[in-house]
Amino acid sequence: MPSINEFQKIFLDYLQDNAFEQAPQGLYQPVDYMMQLGGKRLRPVLVLLSYHLFRDDFRPALPVALAMEVFHNFSLVHDDIMDEAPLRRGQATVHHRYGLNTGILSGDVMLILCYKYLVKVENSALIPALVETFNEVAIKVCEGQQYDMDFETKEDVTIAAYLKMIEYKTAALIEGCMGMGGILAEAGAENIAHLKAFGRNIGLAFQMQDDILDTFGDPDKFGKKVGGDILNNKKTYLILKAYELAGEADRQRLKQWMRSTTESEAEKINAVTQLLIDLNIQDLAMEKMISYQETAFKHLAQVKASAEKKQILLNLAEALLVREV
Ligand code: IPE
Ligand code: IPE
Ligand code: MG
Ligand code: MG
Ligand code: MG
Repeated sequence: MPSINEFQKIFLDYLQDNAFEQAPQGLYQPVDYMMQLGGKRLRPVLVLLSYHLFRDDFRPALPVALAMEVFHNFSLVHDDIMDEAPLRRGQATVHHRYGLNTGILSGDVMLILCYKYLVKVENSALIPALVETFNEVAIKVCEGQQYDMDFETKEDVTIAAYLKMIEYKTAALIEGCMGMGGILAEAGAENIAHLKAFGRNIGLAFQMQDDILDTFGDPDKFGKKVGGDILNNKKTYLILKAYELAGEADRQRLKQWMRSTTESEAEKINAVTQLLIDLNIQDLAMEKMISYQETAFKHLAQVKASAEKKQILLNLAEALLVREV
């Protein structure tokens, strides 16, 4: 049974065989930069693992795995523009390194490349279903990103609205990776529904951990700017839970900080982080995150595949929630 690292390596070898460097360099070099910047390669590995639950090989799933990783990286290039983020995976973001116009156009071409890879799937009878799922995912990600941006300037965001937002911007893609692996393996409607539910719930937990790390992560390990969500007035679970639990005076103070743009960066990050610490918000967010993981595991238990193969997915999901990157 291959380990997670081996699946990752199989994907990285395939990525290497599909180099992005070609003319015009101004367009493709940033694509290559982004794709070679590293990252956990979670989404392609999930595609391979989902497919592998029902098959003994994994090669036929590689074009889908690549499409999903390119889509993820496209979404990050544009997300970093929208979030005005300077750092990604410990390096300069694409628009910081190459400029805003490059970030826009290189991102655009990445989105189109996804279709190029998707239609490479050998069993062409499955391509319409794969493209349909991909389209649903891609539209949800855009909708989720819009909610995320809208909420920066909206004060009365509910936790339910936040959960819908992260389901769209993040969980939909992870759900799609699991679903597309299942479609490709012709796993049957019931298995595919459970695979998708597993992915959706892992995705919700994954974004909650990302939000936790954005405030409480180790700047030397996280690879992104710690405190970035606070500076952007992002309405994360952490902030919304603090609104709910804080006394009136602290709630007003927090709301004031979450409106401000002019204060010194460090002062704002420190003040908001301290309020979250005082309310023990990190533990509450972790409890919620673990509840999604438990729901995910219940769905995986319903998938009719070998326990040994499912264990690889369980291990991967567990590692995600204790990650520091
Ligand atoms: C970052 O995703 C965007 C989120 C959905 C939180 P990852 O944390 O998977 O990013 P990389 O690819 O490993 O860098
Ligand atoms: C990620 O949200 C969602 C997408 C990129 C679609 P974030 O804005 O939290 O992602 P990071 O933290 O920049 O990776
Ligand atoms: Mg961002
Ligand atoms: Mg964002
Ligand atoms: Mg984030």
